[in-house]
Amino acid sequence: MSNFRLKHNQRHFLDLAALDPDAAREIIDKAKSLKATATEEGHGKGFVHPDRPLADKSLAMIFEKPSTRTRVSFEMAMHQLGGTAIVLQGNDMQLGRGETVGDTAQVLSGFVDAVMLRADSHESLLEMAEHAAVPVINALTDFSHPCQVMADVLTFEEHRGSIKGKKIAWSGDGNNVAVSWIHAAVLFDCELVLACPKEFSPPTQVLEWAANNGGKVRLTHAPDEAADGADCIITDTWISMGDKNVDDRIAILTPYQVNRKLIRRTNKDSLFMHCLPAHRGEEVTDEVIDGPRSVIWEEAENRLHIQKSILMWCFGK
Ligand code: CP
Ligand code: NVA
Repeated sequence: MSNFRLKHNQRHFLDLAALDPDAAREIIDKAKSLKATATEEGHGKGFVHPDRPLADKSLAMIFEKPSTRTRVSFEMAMHQLGGTAIVLQGNDMQLGRGETVGDTAQVLSGFVDAVMLRADSHESLLEMAEHAAVPVINALTDFSHPCQVMADVLTFEEHRGSIKGKKIAWSGDGNNVAVSWIHAAVLFDCELVLACPKEFSPPTQVLEWAANNGGKVRLTHAPDEAADGADCIITDTWISMGDKNVDDRIAILTPYQVNRKLIRRTNKDSLFMHCLPAHRGEEVTDEVIDGPRSVIWEEAENRLHIQKSILMWCFGK
């Protein structure tokens, strides 16, 4: 990110590492209040907030990879805030024929008020943000998935109160969601212990960034050690979109499965989270994902509420 320069002064939502703790807290708290209003009895999912805070705003959503939750939650978020969303598949755009991300950013800035990008490469996201004259939102890259982890923090706090000082465990691949959790641990001042095999540990520079910023973040190769006394245990697929060498990954990650035995090491009232989609029987057993500690459906629904708050923050509302 060292050569990242903004041409325009915009409030992008690119990574939790770039967010200050007050802004992060404001986004979480606003999501709680937007959720309370939208879920009042009698409101359908097509509800529109009466003040239509984003009434004259539009969002272009670009997908270079598949999506269910992110796509639907952002589109419904714009609807509920009174705005407009346009869904674009990267391959159907001139992007797919070689138009640069920078040129695309400049063109889209003349049509829409914000751009949401799910990109194969984090570099594309940074290029989009560098050239766009409107806010750019990271809707997942190979490096990070900040919108997801904001929804996770919201979900944790709805169940267990402030996340500050709580122990969060990660068992599995040190992937894009794990990276955003490392950023979140610093931002929200919680303890994070990641159990990942050495082949699939999070990037060293992200762990160093956490250490240099006072984060209570630790990497181990022992799932039991991460799970011991945890208030929440999280995992994700062993094969992320774009990953290769599938068989090797499964063999190496098998000891990191979240199952009954691992859950027994966590606190009595611990939560289980997973960003979904899950590969049942791989990174998590049915018994855990469908069990009493699992909050995966609320976690998925909270994507809607947090997207609304992220969008409003980007627009300074
Ligand atoms: N968790 C998540 O981002 O899901 P989708 O890939 O379905 O958007
Ligand atoms: N790590 C997963 C998350 C999917 C929401 C992936 O990148 O495919």
